[in-house]
Amino acid sequence: MKFFVDTAEIADIKELAETGLLDGVTTNPSLIAKSGRDFIEVTKEICGIVDGPVSAEVVALDHETMMREAETLRKIADNVCIKVPLTIDGLKTCKKLTGDGTMVNVTLCFSANQALLAAKAGATFVSPFVGRHDDNGFDGMDLIRDIRLIYDNYAFETEILVASVRHVVHVLESARIGADVMTAPPSVIKSLFKHVLTDKGIEGFLADWAKTGQSIPTE
Ligand code: E4P
Repeated sequence: MKFFVDTAEIADIKELAETGLLDGVTTNPSLIAKSGRDFIEVTKEICGIVDGPVSAEVVALDHETMMREAETLRKIADNVCIKVPLTIDGLKTCKKLTGDGTMVNVTLCFSANQALLAAKAGATFVSPFVGRHDDNGFDGMDLIRDIRLIYDNYAFETEILVASVRHVVHVLESARIGADVMTAPPSVIKSLFKHVLTDKGIEGFLADWAKTGQSIPTE
């Protein structure tokens, strides 16, 4: 499963990219607003940090303006992935852009039928929002299971990008189901590394090692 980070904060992206485990970045208009940065500038900077796809979202609601915005965004870098909303105009834009070889992430997906439409429109990624689904009394992970089943039934190549991830169990469940990608805030990705028994184990090993009086030569 690929790991994308869901942020426009440069320091967090750099820190995670240095682990060698980061496969891409997703942003949205709210995350750009939170960063306080110029959209084009910050997107360009992010594209220079990671080699993988960097999602940048259009804000127009009609197909023609979405296409013009996408034209500007795809000139930023080769790894820009145009993010469009799951609407009729968004999917028309998706079909056109992917037909031209541009990566497209169809966002704000809340039903398996919407995901089916995104795949038929040739989306590179579809982003079902599991956290917001849970918030509204639905089971976000059931949505991922349904989409996986449908995509496998027809061998669709659209990648399931689990979005609106709120905690590590969303990540675990995504991997169990066989989602292709998950995008999560930096804090969730960092907490995946942690386990109390890992810390306790290191502490015990180091205490015993100190008793040996030895050190490992480093040069
Ligand atoms: C995905 O691409 C979205 O940017 C994101 O996951 C939305 O998450 P939220 O529901 O926490 O805002």
